[in-house]
Amino acid sequence: MKTVKIGLLGIGNVGSGAFQIFSLNSASIAKASGCEITVSGVLARSKNKKRDIDINPEIITDDPDEIIKNPEIDIVVEALGGIEPATTFMLSAMKNGKHVVTANKAAIAANYDKLTEAAAENGVQFKFEASVGGGIPILNAIDTVLRGNEFTEIMGIVNGTTNYILTKMAEEKLPYDVALKNAQELGFAEADPTADVEGIDVANKLTILMALAFGQYIKPENIPTTGISKITAADIEAAALKGCKIKLIAHAKMNGTSCSDCAEKGKLEYSVKPMLLPNDHPLAGVSNEFNAVFITGNAVGELMFYGRGAGAMPTGSAVVGDVIEIAKSFK
Ligand code: HSE
Repeated sequence: MKTVKIGLLGIGNVGSGAFQIFSLNSASIAKASGCEITVSGVLARSKNKKRDIDINPEIITDDPDEIIKNPEIDIVVEALGGIEPATTFMLSAMKNGKHVVTANKAAIAANYDKLTEAAAENGVQFKFEASVGGGIPILNAIDTVLRGNEFTEIMGIVNGTTNYILTKMAEEKLPYDVALKNAQELGFAEADPTADVEGIDVANKLTILMALAFGQYIKPENIPTTGISKITAADIEAAALKGCKIKLIAHAKMNGTSCSDCAEKGKLEYSVKPMLLPNDHPLAGVSNEFNAVFITGNAVGELMFYGRGAGAMPTGSAVVGDVIEIAKSFK
């Protein structure tokens, strides 16, 4: 059986989730991929830091080149987060002939063109299912089994932290700050939770969804974005009195799909903002860190994908799935 060697850049929340899954499910992963997949290098700041997971200190390095430029490594899993140095490391890994898997929505959204072009130029695979919706397989679905559709609309709850905060404020009357602190402790929030609460993380994810579904790369800074930091307990109560919930929604709609020559045909509209949803709307029932994406295709009609959108194991699940798909080509 061929051995496929993984280099893991970062061993925080996402990296440790993926690492644990490789060990927990090693037999079924080997069966599915036809390869023995081993993590043979881990980039971390400290070899000796106390960790919740058991990693052989000999595979830990603080030198990224020992992974990115290591001829033994086949697939680099980037789990550092943030735009830089993650983007530079991914581009360098591709130049060195390595396939790249990442969950890093900020880096992909900022540099989608550069990263996808570098992968094509270097003949390597670049996969990023974990970057949108955590464990929900929405990107692979858009890119494979739904490819026969022209998409008309996407509407999604794609940030676990803010959905958790809004749920706890509504259902348990928790103050905003307490709910945010809980989300951080549970490992849902970004290193700087401003990205979550101001909608920046959702805009990053909408950029990726639109690039795949509509073939249009719209940078996150060009998406009109409002977060939840100004939502008060009184707003949530007022919404409840109207039979509604407040949800942070990523929305994209292709206009003019039913007319042949109207002016707005082919014009994509997009936004990230808190919206009032009636309690019987399917997205209103999506609570805590769960995410859901509604997507409409002209052949398939409406689909809804639902699952855990944040956290080490759900996000690690998507990372490992991408690695297995790449490893199949090594058999
Ligand atoms: N901070 C992100 C969230 C992590 O809360 O959804 C998953 O992308």
